[in-house]
Amino acid sequence: MIRPQLAEFMKRIGEDSIAIVPSAREATRSNDSNFRFRQDSDFYYLTGFEEPEAVAVIRPADKEQPYTLFVRPRDPEKEVWDGRRAGVEGARSEYGASAAFPIGEFEEKVADMINGVTNLYYRIGNGNPEIDDLIVARIRRMRMMGRKGMSAPQAIIDTGAVIHEMRLIKTPEEIELMQRAADIAAEGHIEAMKAARPGMKEYEIEALIEYHFRRNGAAAPAYTSIVGSGANATVLHYVNNDATLRDGDLLLIDAGAEYRGYASDITRTFPINGRFTEAQREIYDLVLEAQMACVEMVRPGVTNDEIKQRSIEIQTEGMVRLGLLKGDPAKLIEEEKYKQFYMHGLGHYLGLDVHDVGRYYVREEPRKLEPGMVMTVEPGIYVSPDAKDVPEKYLGLGVRIEDDVLVTDGAPRVLSGKAPKQAEEIEALMSR
Ligand code: GLY
Ligand code: MN
Ligand code: MN
Repeated sequence: MIRPQLAEFMKRIGEDSIAIVPSAREATRSNDSNFRFRQDSDFYYLTGFEEPEAVAVIRPADKEQPYTLFVRPRDPEKEVWDGRRAGVEGARSEYGASAAFPIGEFEEKVADMINGVTNLYYRIGNGNPEIDDLIVARIRRMRMMGRKGMSAPQAIIDTGAVIHEMRLIKTPEEIELMQRAADIAAEGHIEAMKAARPGMKEYEIEALIEYHFRRNGAAAPAYTSIVGSGANATVLHYVNNDATLRDGDLLLIDAGAEYRGYASDITRTFPINGRFTEAQREIYDLVLEAQMACVEMVRPGVTNDEIKQRSIEIQTEGMVRLGLLKGDPAKLIEEEKYKQFYMHGLGHYLGLDVHDVGRYYVREEPRKLEPGMVMTVEPGIYVSPDAKDVPEKYLGLGVRIEDDVLVTDGAPRVLSGKAPKQAEEIEALMSR
C-alpha cells in the first residue's frame, strides 16, 4: 500500500524520472547530545517514516519496485539505547516500501538505480552535503561509462518543484490535523489568559502554554514560543521570556503547537491585569480592525500582496488618526513611513513547516490564493519605547494578532478561531 501523497507524486514526476529524497539528519545540541529528532517535512510528507538515516528512492517506471527505502537496520544493542527501529522488514510491512535495504547499501546501489532515467529529482543543497557529493560523483562516473551501457540523467530537477506544490494545497486529512494543531494552541492561549497575573514570570506562561500543547499530544511547539510583556512585545523575535509581568502592561504571546507534523501559529495580545487601558485599546482595536478585514480577504483569486496592502492602508490611516504618524496616508504609504511601526509581512503559508513551502510569486507575478491553502494573517503595530514624536501613552506598546486561515471555495475558515481576540471577550475571560 503506497500512501496517496506518494502515488500522486509518482504520477506527477512521470515514468522518465527517479526521485531521491533523504530524511533529516540528527543535529548536535551540545557535545554528544542531540536535539530531539524532527523529520524532514518533504520526506515525512511522502513516506510517513520518522527515523533519521533514511533515503527514499522513487522510480515510477519500475512496476515491481517503484518505492525503495534505505533505512537503519535492526540492531538489538543500539535499540536498547535509542529505541525501536522499523528496520528493513518494517520499512516494507509498516511503511509500504516495495523494497528496502540497510542505509549502508545506498552508496553502492544508487548508480544502478539512476541509470537510464531522463530526469533525476533531487533537492541539492538541502542540508545533506554528503549525499549531494555522492550523487555528483556517481553522475560524473556514469557520464564516463557511456560505452559500458551507463547513461546519466539529462536533467536534475529540484524535488521541491513537485512536492512543495503538492504540500501547498492541503488534503482533507491534512486540514483535520491542522485544525487539531490550532485547537491545541488555542487552548494554550486561553489558559495563558486565565493564568496571567502581575508578578509572574514570562517563562511561567511559556511553561503553562507548552504544558497544554504536550498534554494534548502535540510533539512540541512548532517554533520557539514568544512570550513578551511590556516593551518586549516590540521585539519581533523576543524569545528570552524571562521578564516579570507588570501590572498595566500588555503581554504578547506568539505560540503554536506541532501536531503529527503540522504546525499552528497563533498570536494573541492581552492586558496582564485583565483590563486594557484606553491607549492600549486604541492600538489593539486598530490592529484587530486590520486583521479581521484581511482575514475576510483570504479567498480564491486574491493575492497575499493585496491582503498585505489592505493591512498597510488600514493601519496607516489608523496611525494618522492616533497621532503616531502625521500627514497624508497615501503619501505615508508611498514613502513607507508606516514601517516604523509595522515592519513585517502580513503572513505566510502554514503546514508541515511553520513558514511553509510553496511559491508566493509565479513568473514574478504575485500568486492567487486557491482552496486548500492555509495562510497566517498577522498584522501588528509596535511602538518602540525610544520612538520620537509619538504620543507618550503609546510608547513601548506592541500588539500582534495572528490567525491561521484556510482558503475554501467560499468564506475563509479560521482554524485558530477558538482563541478569543475581541477585547471584550478577552476581558470577560480574564475576569473569571
Ligand atoms: N511565529 C512565527 C511567525 O509568526 O511567523
Ligand atoms: Mn506566523
Ligand atoms: Mn507567529
